[in-house]
Amino acid sequence: MSKFQAGEWVLLTSQKGKKWLVKIEDASYSSHLGGIKLGDIVGMEEGDRLETTKGAKLLLFRPTLEDFLFNMKRYTQIIYPKDLSAMVFHGDVYPGCTVIETGIGSGALAITLLRAMCGRGRLISIEKRLEFAQGARDNISRYFGGNPENHTIIVADIQDVAIDCQADRIFVDLPEPWHAVANFSRMLRMGGLLVSLSPNVGQVQLMYRELKANGFGNIINFELIRRDWKVDQMRARPFDRMVAHTGFITIAKRVAAPGAAEEPAEESTEGVDLEDSAEEL
Ligand SMILES: C[S@@+](CC[C@H](N)C(=O)[O-])C[C@H]1O[C@@H](n2cnc3c(N)ncnc32)[C@H](O)[C@@H]1O
Repeated sequence: MSKFQAGEWVLLTSQKGKKWLVKIEDASYSSHLGGIKLGDIVGMEEGDRLETTKGAKLLLFRPTLEDFLFNMKRYTQIIYPKDLSAMVFHGDVYPGCTVIETGIGSGALAITLLRAMCGRGRLISIEKRLEFAQGARDNISRYFGGNPENHTIIVADIQDVAIDCQADRIFVDLPEPWHAVANFSRMLRMGGLLVSLSPNVGQVQLMYRELKANGFGNIINFELIRRDWKVDQMRARPFDRMVAHTGFITIAKRVAAPGAAEEPAEESTEGVDLEDSAEEL
């Protein structure tokens, strides 16, 4: 792996796992563990240790996407990595696809989508608040070192937007997504996927009704719960605390005609309770 150069982002990690994201420049950086000269990192490699003025040893890494998202400036609540990864995988994002996203918030989902798209295809983000659009743009620019050419941000209310394109994928992180479903239906190609994140289950049910009424089928809903474990020489047990709930993920496909997916038998069996699945067998 190449050596660190001036201008790069570096993740400093203490022995206890505390992390700081810094840019290599001609300046000093200090924390409760002591100071370092950032310029000293130039020429070092990932996994190397740099000693602070107080004798602490900091490990040096290039930040992962997760490191960047947790350290970037937040203007809104962001989607957590466990949900981002599932949304991008189950939403089947691929290089070259056309994606619409709303709202952009702090840009966590936009950055994740753009990275999965590998500079190909097109991402259109629709956000109604200018200050969030600008903040997200700053975060995106910091991550990619400039604004990706395949990304456009439209500042507008999603309910007023009519984009003349047939997107392959639509990603939704809105407080009231059901109001925009008719519009999503017009902007998504047949067979295209809509992926929506909702913190409250009431939102999920309102969304379901609108999806059914606007030509969507194969609707699945799920929640992911991550429980971290504390493992060392003496212990192997779950941590006492966890992020118990973040949101519900809804995935739906655009189908041939509004109403065509109204037969319950057409629903995916994924995520259906065991009793129902057992009857299918
Ligand atoms: C929770 S934040 C999105 C966070 C984003 N997914 C991320 O990971 O950083 C929700 C965003 O939706 C925007 N929003 C709410 N209603 C909207 C609407 N009708 N049209 C467009 N954007 C809207 C809000 O301004 C806010 O920025």
